[in-house]
Amino acid sequence: MSDSFDVIVIGSGPGGYVCAIRAAQLGLKVACVEKSATLGGTCLNVGCIPSKALLQSSEEFDKAGHALKDHGVLVDGVKLDLARMQARKGEVVAANTKGVEFLFRKNKVTWLKGTGRITAPGTVDVDGTSYATKNIIIATGSDSVPLPGVTVDEKQIVTSTGALELEKVPGHLVVIGAGVIGLELGSVWRRLGAEVTVIEFLDRIVPGMDNEVATAFQRILQKQGLKFRLGMKVTGASTAADGVTLTMEPAKGGAAETLTVDIVLVAIGRRPYTEGLGLEEVGVALDERKRVKTDAHYATNVPGIYAIGDVIAGAMLAHKAEDEGVALAEILAGQAGHVNYGAIPGVVYTWPEVASVGQTEEELKAAGVAYTVGKFPFTANGRARAMGDTDGFVKILADKATDRLLGAHIIGPDAGTLIAELTTAIEFGASAEDVGRICHAHPTLSEVVKEAALAAEGRALHI
Ligand code: FAD
Ligand code: NAI
Repeated sequence: MSDSFDVIVIGSGPGGYVCAIRAAQLGLKVACVEKSATLGGTCLNVGCIPSKALLQSSEEFDKAGHALKDHGVLVDGVKLDLARMQARKGEVVAANTKGVEFLFRKNKVTWLKGTGRITAPGTVDVDGTSYATKNIIIATGSDSVPLPGVTVDEKQIVTSTGALELEKVPGHLVVIGAGVIGLELGSVWRRLGAEVTVIEFLDRIVPGMDNEVATAFQRILQKQGLKFRLGMKVTGASTAADGVTLTMEPAKGGAAETLTVDIVLVAIGRRPYTEGLGLEEVGVALDERKRVKTDAHYATNVPGIYAIGDVIAGAMLAHKAEDEGVALAEILAGQAGHVNYGAIPGVVYTWPEVASVGQTEEELKAAGVAYTVGKFPFTANGRARAMGDTDGFVKILADKATDRLLGAHIIGPDAGTLIAELTTAIEFGASAEDVGRICHAHPTLSEVVKEAALAAEGRALHI
């Protein structure tokens, strides 16, 4: 036995690294096992951060080529330097992953480099060296769901990881799956000049998102040139030097068809990653979707073994993983860690952004809850007009009897920032009237939030 710890976290994604830092802050002796060459997990290396870097860069390119003209700014000869764009993305990723390394040193978290395997409760093997620990935390995250018949080579048929690394703008990119990854990365390559077709099994995009918002979202993306084939099932793919030929058929039955394109992005969801962890041997139970089963305190069925983040149930989001990491570290230090799952925002970083928190209208209907709706469009907001970004609206759902906020859905400029106010309001149990009576600076986009709250009581001012 080499060394002993209070806590060993396996995986250094946003769940694992934040948990390690918080546990160390609380005085525990902590190690974090990571098999990749850099810290930060999916999010920092091949997820949130590189995708947001490319979304930002492609947005600048798109603006220079189109939107700036409306502002009277004429930019001649806009050209794409994709190699520089990709290099910048690499620099952004490196700054973030190095940042986590710095935080580990600062907080005295030991990075155990290698692959972690649980050999018994209280023992973790890292590439042949055994470490003793009072608590083990599984934070091994997720990877992409494969599609039978469509074999990923990360060159012509890619997951999000390959789609972030393309060295050439594809002539025609097909995205399988109209979810968050497909629409964000589809937007990147569309803005950079690719023809983009999104093939989705269901008859709508972004399942789970408020219907009205999803419909508006699809319309806006179509205006930007994305094409959608809804209700279609991809049944196979074959690659050749000059492209990929997909076979597909209507999900509800009908004639098969083929489509030959340059690149195919498979983005049909992510699944928990527990390969090689030794869970079966130590008897850690999984649920029906192979996620590590935990109780309300993140404990598995094996004493001393806990799990957080994408590998357990719930939204696969970095901030959900982080908050679970903090809650669990506090529980292990004898405090009362807690996550309010009713107030976790979700953001799609397209343009415009789409953001939501709490329940959708469909969920309220299904639960038989009586509610009021307040809606206000960005077209009626002075700042949005000044920016030239008037697509979208804020929609607020409040309890009909008590006026308490139950859900908020925004499609529009900076929706991801605007949702923070409504998340805070829901966390504090605010009513729509509370939000409507708060003074919002003029002229800001946040006035659309205030007006939507007022609209829930039928008293919006500027419409
Ligand atoms: P991960 O980040 O997946 O980290 C797990 C780590 O564990 C990995 O580094 C892995 O190498 C390591 N590991 C696994 N097994 C072992 C082992 N046996 N030994 C040692 N190390 C091991 N979420 C958002 O909230 N916002 C976004 O904008 C966003 N964008 C995304 C974009 C893309 C393209 C993708 C793919 C995901 C995105 N996500 C986003 C989701 C987000 O990345 C995940 O929810 C988040 O990373 C989950 O964190 P985690 O700590 O649970 O696991
Ligand atoms: P997703 O679950 O968001 O969407 C997958 C889509 O694929 C769904 O619309 C589904 O109906 C469709 N689908 C499933 N099987 C199909 C098939 N055989 N053929 C055609 N369509 C099919 O999954 P996605 O986009 O892969 O993202 C995975 C996770 O990563 C998300 O759940 C999200 O939590 C996280 N993520 C978050 C981001 C953010 O917060 N901005 C950005 C990117 C990812």
